[in-house]
Amino acid sequence: MNHTTDWPTEQPIDWTSERSFRQSPHEPAFYNNPYSLYRQLHERRGPVFWHDYGFWCLIEFDAVASALKDRRFARLPPASALRHSEFSKTPTGESHAAHMQQFAQVERHSLLQLEPPVHTRLRKRINQAFVARQIETMAKPIEAMVNQCIDQFIDERACDLLTTLATPVPVTVIATLLGVPLDRRDDLLRWSHDMVKVYTLTQSYNDERLANQSAGEFSDCLLALIDEKRRKPKEDLLSLMASTRDPGSILSNEEIISVAVLLLNAGHEATVHQFGNLVNALLQNDCAPRGGFNDAVHGKRTVDEGLRYDAPLHLFLRYAQCDVELGHGVTVKAGEQVAVLLGAANRDPTRFVEPERFRPERTDGAHVSLGAGIHFCIGAALAGLELQILTDTLFKRIPDLQLAQQPQYQDLFHFHGLKALQVRW
Ligand code: HEM
Repeated sequence: MNHTTDWPTEQPIDWTSERSFRQSPHEPAFYNNPYSLYRQLHERRGPVFWHDYGFWCLIEFDAVASALKDRRFARLPPASALRHSEFSKTPTGESHAAHMQQFAQVERHSLLQLEPPVHTRLRKRINQAFVARQIETMAKPIEAMVNQCIDQFIDERACDLLTTLATPVPVTVIATLLGVPLDRRDDLLRWSHDMVKVYTLTQSYNDERLANQSAGEFSDCLLALIDEKRRKPKEDLLSLMASTRDPGSILSNEEIISVAVLLLNAGHEATVHQFGNLVNALLQNDCAPRGGFNDAVHGKRTVDEGLRYDAPLHLFLRYAQCDVELGHGVTVKAGEQVAVLLGAANRDPTRFVEPERFRPERTDGAHVSLGAGIHFCIGAALAGLELQILTDTLFKRIPDLQLAQQPQYQDLFHFHGLKALQVRW
């Protein structure tokens, strides 16, 4: 039962011209197994135009890794081609209306929407909380938390691992890191869930209204906390950001709010889904570390191979800052968007031996699932640690874990994660 072969009817690509193809992101056969499309795209090599989205895509490992580091591509459109970013239009194409003002306010200072020098200043400040030695101190508390979650369901002999284990752990870690009281975890989950829907390029007007409302509620909650941390700083990231005395690194309240919201949104959903994707891949491919990982190297390699094999985030957009030649006679004009398909790059047959196989022992496993360049995932070490501890503890406590049913992915191509992961033991 291998999930890459569970959708056996490999549909041939619907090419509309030599380099342009049609593929609805909502087709179940596609979002359950986008790798079938990627495999066929790799046969053609070079950039391809995704008709349904209306942008050029880079799919090869080298092209994706280079574009992520290439300053001719940025998160924002060039000043000369001021257009709205991908999140700034209503479904009818109007610019931010009143119904998205609070969301837009939070997005304004998001690291993901910034470029140097502002990006450098903000990132430097929050990096302090993510340096390796700081992250390592979280190992024991995370392990204790994972054990507590498992205690709650181990006697049931069956559960959905996404709701019982994958969801509570990352949100608790981020709340603790930020210094948000743990009794707000349900609110954090709701806010994150509402807000990330707007990053899917397929949101409805109602989704946008909900995202806006959640952005407003989250901002109000953070504003009160920032005030409290300024008066009585603690050992957490909100205090660190709110109480700096160094004039060069003072952050405004709006900046602190944007950072906190991004950490929750970027950090939570991806980690939840990656844990599901990893456990699924381990079980489907008979690679589960029964009894836990032998050592840290084994654990790290397995997590990295999981990220390569079935990443939770497949598509990111960049704006060309000038006319850029993509190769094969394709040039994008300044201000046009280009997509980097991380999930496709991770399966590039010219970069990986047997890219379709899940092989934790592989040594050619460097992937692009955490990005590259100045926007490289700031939570990479934390995510790695969480995933290692979650997987190690799970298989130590429940060595005979098995899938109870074939999992299905959710209809959200950008957030490639399972609807549920029903297991039994
Ligand atoms: C498996 C889990 C995760 C995956 C796959 C992931 C993936 C990514 C990717 C691909 C980017 C780059 C986006 C781009 O270049 O446009 C990114 C950026 C980012 N990630 Fe993660 N991430 C994960 C977990 C986390 C966690 C746990 C946190 C924090 C608690 C986090 C915080 C961030 C932030 C703040 C950025 C923006 C960095 C910047 O723009 O400078 N991520 N992540």
